[in-house]
Amino acid sequence: MSIQRLDKIISLNCSVSRRDARKLIKDGKVSVNGLPALRAETPVETQTDKIDVDGFDFTIKEHIYIMMNKPSGVISASDDKNKTTVVDLVPPELKRRSLFPAGRLDRDTTGLIIITDDGDFTHRLLSPSHHVYKRYIARLDLPLSEESVKKLESGILLEDGTQCLPARVEAYENDGVPFARIEIREGKYHQVKRMTAACGSHVEELKRVKIGALCLDESLAPGECRELTPQELDLVFENE
Ligand code: URA
Repeated sequence: MSIQRLDKIISLNCSVSRRDARKLIKDGKVSVNGLPALRAETPVETQTDKIDVDGFDFTIKEHIYIMMNKPSGVISASDDKNKTTVVDLVPPELKRRSLFPAGRLDRDTTGLIIITDDGDFTHRLLSPSHHVYKRYIARLDLPLSEESVKKLESGILLEDGTQCLPARVEAYENDGVPFARIEIREGKYHQVKRMTAACGSHVEELKRVKIGALCLDESLAPGECRELTPQELDLVFENE
């Protein structure tokens, strides 16, 4: 059960400012469970209460979850004075004030990133104890040896003494170019790049393609995004 103020719910769900939400309420355009609501601070039970704004009945969404195909050259942050961020790329119809990326990808890493305003979700996604594997495809300069794959699978010790958790790894070639599919359930700084570097291979290109059982929607062009469906959201916490 979650109780929120009426003006906050309207602001979040109708993409209007809090001030505009308060005006809608004051103008008598809002009802809760069929009864007029004239106070901005009216408590709303987000799971069960029915809100109607100006004759339009909507399902309350407490939070928003957006899948983006992150392009290279954009930083994983909410805002930055000089650089374009993933949140800058979110179109106005999905924009909310408190959006942030759930985890970071390096500036030159592309692919699946989730942008949300839900801190609990993000904590669950990033905490290694929740075992959400993130899958990366790395194009390498040199192939990983069988021995390197074994080291990565049993948890590699990086040169600076950082111990990585066991990863799931497959090394392969595509048209003679070495690649690795690497799945990790933690997010240390430059982790995939440092893991392969510890095996003597340099990452030339890195793309995240999967989080839990949720795959990147490849129909999204780099920089495009869309809201996740409730079913897709569940896939995030399903491991295969
Ligand atoms: N590992 C990296 O090295 N970079 C990323 O962006 C993500 C994982």
